[in-house]
Amino acid sequence: MAGGKAKEIEKEIEKEARISEAEVAVHWGEEEYIEPPEEIKRQAYVTDPTFREKFKEENFPECFHIYADLLDWDRYWHTTLDTSNPPFWKWFVGGKLNACYNCVDRHLKKYGNKAAIIWVPEPEDEPKRVLTYYDLYYQVNVVASVLQSLGLKAGDTVTLYMPMVPELPITMLACARLGIIHSQVFSGFSGPACAERIIDAESKVLITIDGYWRNGKWIDHKKNADIAVNVAAERGHKVEKVLIWQRYRDRYNSESKPIEGRDFLMKDLLKEHRGKKVPYVPMPAEAPLFIMYTSGSTGKPKGCVHSIGGYLAYVAGTCKYIHDIHPEDIHWCMADIGWITGHSYIVYGPLALGATVLIYEGVPTYPDPDRPWRIAERYGVTILHTAPTAIRLLKKLGSDPSKYDYKFRILVTVGEPIEPEVWRWYYTAVGKKQAVVLDTWWQTETGGWLCAHLPGVEPMKLGSTGPGALGIYPVIYDENGNEIPPGSGKAGYICIKNPWPGRMLTIWKNPERMIKGYYEKFCKNKESKDWRDWPYIAGDAATCDKRGYFRILGRMDDIINVAGHRLGTKEIESAALTVEGVAEAAVVPKIDELKGHVPDLYISLKDGYEPSPEIAEKVKMAVRNIIGPIATPAHVYIVPDMPKTRSGKIMRRVLACISNGRKDFGDLTTLIDPSIVEKIWEIVHGEG
Ligand code: PRX
Repeated sequence: MAGGKAKEIEKEIEKEARISEAEVAVHWGEEEYIEPPEEIKRQAYVTDPTFREKFKEENFPECFHIYADLLDWDRYWHTTLDTSNPPFWKWFVGGKLNACYNCVDRHLKKYGNKAAIIWVPEPEDEPKRVLTYYDLYYQVNVVASVLQSLGLKAGDTVTLYMPMVPELPITMLACARLGIIHSQVFSGFSGPACAERIIDAESKVLITIDGYWRNGKWIDHKKNADIAVNVAAERGHKVEKVLIWQRYRDRYNSESKPIEGRDFLMKDLLKEHRGKKVPYVPMPAEAPLFIMYTSGSTGKPKGCVHSIGGYLAYVAGTCKYIHDIHPEDIHWCMADIGWITGHSYIVYGPLALGATVLIYEGVPTYPDPDRPWRIAERYGVTILHTAPTAIRLLKKLGSDPSKYDYKFRILVTVGEPIEPEVWRWYYTAVGKKQAVVLDTWWQTETGGWLCAHLPGVEPMKLGSTGPGALGIYPVIYDENGNEIPPGSGKAGYICIKNPWPGRMLTIWKNPERMIKGYYEKFCKNKESKDWRDWPYIAGDAATCDKRGYFRILGRMDDIINVAGHRLGTKEIESAALTVEGVAEAAVVPKIDELKGHVPDLYISLKDGYEPSPEIAEKVKMAVRNIIGPIATPAHVYIVPDMPKTRSGKIMRRVLACISNGRKDFGDLTTLIDPSIVEKIWEIVHGEG
C-alpha cells in the first residue's frame, strides 16, 4: 500500500478507536429526565421558561450584555464583540473595569459585615476563620500595597504556589487590584512542574506558604517551592523574590528556612503596610486577569490567558443565572483553587455576586467520610459543587449524609462523566431529592460552563450535561466536519459554533497553539472574519439527544482525565523517559472504579538493561516527582517492544485495550510485529 494511503487508514482506525473507547468507558443508555423540585422552581433566579430565548442566535452577541451588566464598569464598552482577528475575539472593547473592585469594594456598602469567605481548616479542633467583605477589603489592600512596594505593576506576572487557605484568594485579588497577572499553580504539583510554569510565565516573584494540612499530614510546602526556584535557576530563569505566607501566624513551620535576600515572610511585610489602602487600577476589558496552565497534547503545559472583562462577566453571569447563587447562599465548591473550577466558581464568580464562599483545607474523606456533611450542617451550606470522583469515593467509603441536618438547593457535578448509580446517590442520598443536580461541562480554556441546564425551569437528565449554556450553541461534527443531527445517537466531536466572553484570550506566548489546537481542524475559511466559520473544538466526544441535551463521552485526544484532573500523555511519557535505561514510554487510560481513569504506563528498555521491579518503581517515582502525585501511574509494565506501526508510531489504542482487559484490538495489520500484542497481554494479564 502506498505510504500516504496507509497513513490515512491508520488515522481512521485511531480516530474510530478513540470514540468507541470513550463510549465503552461510560455506557449506560438511560433516557431519564427528572423535573426540578417545586421549591427550586419557585426560588431560582430564572423561573421564566422563555428566559433562554434572550440568548438566541438573533440576539448574539448583545445577549451577553445581560452578563456584563452584572458588573460595575469604570468605562462602558463601545464594541460588544470585535471579530476582526479571528479567532482572537475581543469582548466589551473600550470598556474598563477592575476585577478586585467588582469582587470586593462594591459589596462593602450592602454586605460589608457579611461573610465573604468561611475557611474550614483540616484539624477539626482548630477554629474556622471568617472574613467579612470588609475584612477581605482590608487584607487585599494591605497585600496589594506589599506587591506595589516590590515594584510590581499592571501587566507583570506573578506565580502563586499555594494551597487552600484564605490567603490564596486574598493574594489573587490583590494582584487583580493592580492589574498584575496571577498564575496560580496547583499546590499538589511537584517543584519541577511549578518551575516549568514559572519559567513560561516569566515570573520574577513567587508567592507561597510554609506548609499546610492534607489527609492528616503536614505538607512541608516551602521545600517544594525551593525546588521550583532551584529548577528554574538551573534552566536560566531567576526568581528574584519569594514571599512566604505562614499557615500559623505565630510560627514558621518548614525545614526549608527563608533564604536571606530572596525570601520574605509575608508576616513581616504586612506589618510594614498595615492599614494601607491602594486605589484599584481600572483595566481594559481585554487585558489578562490570570494565566491558568493546563495539559495539552504536547509535553508542554499550555498557559490559558483569561481576560478581565469577558471572563468576569461570564463567570458572574453563569453563577447567577445557571448556578443560581444568591447573596444569601453559602456556596461550597470542593475543587482546589489551583484549578480553573476554583478560579471561576470559588473566587471570581461567587464573589462578584457578593455571595459567601466556604473554602476548606484537606480532603473530603479525612478524618472520616462524613466530613462534608458535618461541614454542610455546621456552616449551613446551601450549594455544593464537586466532582464525580469525590462522590464515588464518599459513596464507596460508606459516607452517611442522612445523619446530618443540612439542606442543599443545587448540587453541581463537574470534571468527568458521572455514572447513573453515582448520580442517583448524589441526588437521593446527598441532595435528599430536594436539590437540583447540575452537570456542568466545560474546560480550563473556556473560562466557564459550556453546557448546563437552567435549574429552575429545565429538567435534569441522568448522566448527561444539559443543553448549551445561555448564549452557547454547541454542535457535534463527524470526522469531516459534517454536523451530526441531535437524536441520531451517533458520537462525534463536540464543538461550539460561536464565540463567548469566557473563552481564553490566547495561549500565553503561543497564540499559534490556540489556532492549531482549537480551530484549525474544522475552520471553514481561514480568511473569513465571520465567527460562523470558526467553530471551537473542545476535544471531547459527545452525543446529543433530540431535546438538545449533550452526553459527554470522554477525550478524543492525548489527554487522560484522572479523577477530574487533566493530564497530558506526553508529559507523563517525557517524565518516564528521564529514567536511565528507558527507551520508549506510552501511557494509556485504564478505567477505574473510583477515579474514572488512571494512567497505565508501558515502557521498553534500551539494550543492556534488564527488566526489574526497581526500574518500574524508579519510573513511577520519576513521574510523581516531575509532575505530582496525581499523575503517578497505576502500573508500570516493562515490555520487550511497543506495538508499533511501520511508520514507527506506537498504537496506544492497543495498549489501552490490554489495560482494560479487552481484546477488540481492531485492525492490527499495520503493526510491524503483530505478535507483540499477545506478548504484552501475557505480561499484563498472565498467560491464557
Ligand atoms: O473531558 C472533559 C472533562 O474535563 C475536560 C476539561 O478538563 P479541565 O480543563 O481540567 O477542566 C475541568 C473542569 C472544568 C473536558 O474536556 N469534563 C469536564 N466537565 C465534564 C467533563 N466530562 C464529562 N462531564 C462533565 N461535566
